[in-house]
Amino acid sequence: MQIVAIHNIESGVGKTSTAVNLAWIAAKNGLRTLLWDLNSRAEAGLFLGANSDPNTRMSNELAGRVTLADQIIGSDYENLAVVPGRWAYRNLEQLINGAADPRRVVKSLLKPLADEYDLVVLDCPADEPELADSVLAAAEIILVPLIPGPQALDGWQHVLDICRNSRLPVSSIYPFLNMIDYRIQLHREWLVVAPAELPRLFSAYIPFAHAVERMSITRQPVAESDATDRVADAYQALWQELKRHLDEPVSDS
Ligand SMILES: Nc1ncnc2c1ncn2[C@@H]1O[C@H](COP(=O)(O)OP(=O)(O)OP(=O)(O)O)[C@@H](O)[C@H]1O
Ligand SMILES: [Mg+2]
Repeated sequence: MQIVAIHNIESGVGKTSTAVNLAWIAAKNGLRTLLWDLNSRAEAGLFLGANSDPNTRMSNELAGRVTLADQIIGSDYENLAVVPGRWAYRNLEQLINGAADPRRVVKSLLKPLADEYDLVVLDCPADEPELADSVLAAAEIILVPLIPGPQALDGWQHVLDICRNSRLPVSSIYPFLNMIDYRIQLHREWLVVAPAELPRLFSAYIPFAHAVERMSITRQPVAESDATDRVADAYQALWQELKRHLDEPVSDS
């Protein structure tokens, strides 16, 4: 089982959209995929038809034996299951606050599922520093969506700082550009200069696309609702690049 976190402390940069579309592509490619929505607003599952409540075993919760397996629900798609966000809100903070080593919490919750899933995609919340440590420690690869502009560099620096403060390797953190609007000069410039400024920047990037905005209406990944839109190809390219890194051992640089 491999774990990928889509993370940025900044809000509204495309974490959930990316997590949903990448998880869908992974599942379509035959990987048994779990999308874990770590947000309290529980949005990610809605895009995948996973909108029921988990069949929570109340006795387990009452007895304090909270397992992630109890919280998994199916989606509209083969090979793709979801942990809806509400659970993160209710239980995860509690577990992290009460843990001797909070950094191990996410990883140890996933451990019992190692034989059931090939890939876990973590849709991270913005601005949850306690959770960030645990999520970043669990993930083999951390993808950081960045929208061109000065704030992007702050968001990027923030992820690096969390990792350095927690003595986590930064070599597994990869930024990529999202919401590229070719009409905006700054965005066109970033496509040229960002590779030199941002280490490990993915060459794949996601254009600004109404198909992504419409996900809140279609309630589907873009390749289901707008298969011919170029943004569907862009998510494919992002997946291919991610997959290459997942298949390679990470070098510690
Ligand atoms: N490539 C894109 N083109 C157009 N709109 C996009 C794109 N990516 C994301 N969006 C839109 O930007 C908004 C924020 O996206 P999203 O919810 O994925 O971000 P987030 O980082 O998960 O936000 P939050 O921090 O609030 O959880 C949404 O309305 C989404 O539809
Ligand atoms: Mg989100």
